[in-house]
Amino acid sequence: MVDQTQIVQFLSAADKAAQVILETVQQDGFIDCFSHLDADGVAAAGVISKALYRLDARYRVRVMQWVDDKIINDIIVDKPQLVVLTDFGSGYLQLLNEKVPSVKVVILDHHQITAKVDNDNFVQVNPHDYGIDGATEVSGSGVTYFVAKSLNPENVDSAPVALVGAFGDMQDKYDQRSFGGLNELILKDAVEAGLMKIEKDLTFFGRETRPIHRTLATTTNPFIPGISGEEDKALAFLASLDIDIKQGGRFRALSDLNEVEKKRLCSALAEYMLSKGLHVEVSNLIGNNYVLVNEESNTALRDAREYAVLLNSTGRMDRPGLGIAICMGDRGTALDESNSILEDYRKNINKYLGWVMEKPERLRELTNIYVVNGEDYINEKIIGTVSSIMVAGLSNNQKPLIAYAKVDGEASVKISSRTSEAVLQRGVNLGDVMRLASEKHLGKGGGHSIAAGAQVPMSQIEDFIVTADELVGRQLKGEILAGNNNP
Ligand code: C5P
Ligand code: C5P
Ligand code: ZN
Repeated sequence: MVDQTQIVQFLSAADKAAQVILETVQQDGFIDCFSHLDADGVAAAGVISKALYRLDARYRVRVMQWVDDKIINDIIVDKPQLVVLTDFGSGYLQLLNEKVPSVKVVILDHHQITAKVDNDNFVQVNPHDYGIDGATEVSGSGVTYFVAKSLNPENVDSAPVALVGAFGDMQDKYDQRSFGGLNELILKDAVEAGLMKIEKDLTFFGRETRPIHRTLATTTNPFIPGISGEEDKALAFLASLDIDIKQGGRFRALSDLNEVEKKRLCSALAEYMLSKGLHVEVSNLIGNNYVLVNEESNTALRDAREYAVLLNSTGRMDRPGLGIAICMGDRGTALDESNSILEDYRKNINKYLGWVMEKPERLRELTNIYVVNGEDYINEKIIGTVSSIMVAGLSNNQKPLIAYAKVDGEASVKISSRTSEAVLQRGVNLGDVMRLASEKHLGKGGGHSIAAGAQVPMSQIEDFIVTADELVGRQLKGEILAGNNNP
């Protein structure tokens, strides 16, 4: 839990970063912003864009997969008066200090800090500096939100977007899928401003936009034997409860059910699952749903979980500008286009999952890890999503999953590792594994204990996998590899 002193210190760092931004704007300086390409990164880009727009600043925002030499070269050539990095940066302080030590940089991040750097030009706001857990208590868009709010209280209207970013990073892991830590403060702002409300209901994905029978059939969390994966059975189940699946010619979504229907469905599902012996799963059926009250019903933007997936798709499908526009309030063509990007993104993921299963060598089991080789087939920007989905499917197994794919146009591979809470309990920290294995094999890596990534030259990948397998093995034996076990 976050205590008051930690919050005060964190907020004072946010004020300091806001001050640096404000001074740059007052001097009419140009601000170059870079953000990470997942849902949280796109949300962070939206929050900072709106704040800078309100200040009438001169700025540009770009969304990238990582901080690399291309960004550094742009900074050297363009000579912006200020660089702002959101949802990444804390793992790159040394690189920035080596390459652009005299450039003013504001870093608004929540990833593990790999090294401390003493340079007054760099102002960092990171919860880990104050004993606040960046993996569960605040996301990159949340950190950015606190700075935006310090710049101008009107930026409270970005609170819902900041929470959408936290959903993207799967931070709704507290009781009944609620938020904790600094995310709770953001939620309070959003609720008090009349922008969000919480509804206790089934937490299945697709609450606003998916036909109910499809929502039931596509849920794997919880997995409902006899219904998950079986749309016709889901239809029959609803029919047996006298729940109409259509209304006015349109399929109804879970959010369209009235209170009586909701209760009937929840009780029937609970009873059904108990009859299958799924006692633990039943307690996870109901939880918090976060509704963006000003958004239209039956759109992805009304449900924070669906909103996050929409943003994720724009970032990973090379259209982050659409996601940023939506975060800033655009509801016209940007929303229509994003919805079609989301559809393409889903098709791609399904295509990739099918492809992995076609040949056994594409999913291998080693001593301590699973390995998925996406070759040059799986897009390296989507390999992270594939890894997240596949590890959920392997959750009965006690091994992390490491997936990789070739980076387009480069002789390198992108690696994405994911694991389960159960494996973390046994001592695994993938952030350390990715960092150490990539350092040994001429690459760069890091992240959270439960989800981490790396890039290495293609020639190194087989050795990298051997090292990662061995490092996980050592962690499972109780060794703490890096001298710290940050979340
Ligand atoms: O860069 P970033 O922190 O935004 O990446 C988060 C990634 O890690 C996401 O893919 C998210 O699904 C995953 N994650 C997770 N569980 C957590 C935190 C993050 O699976 N507790
Ligand atoms: O890229 P992927 O989604 O697999 O990343 C998982 C987590 O690891 C993210 O939080 C990401 O920002 C982090 N990461 C990192 N350094 C890298 C690659 C990924 O900190 N080189
Ligand atoms: Zn993040």
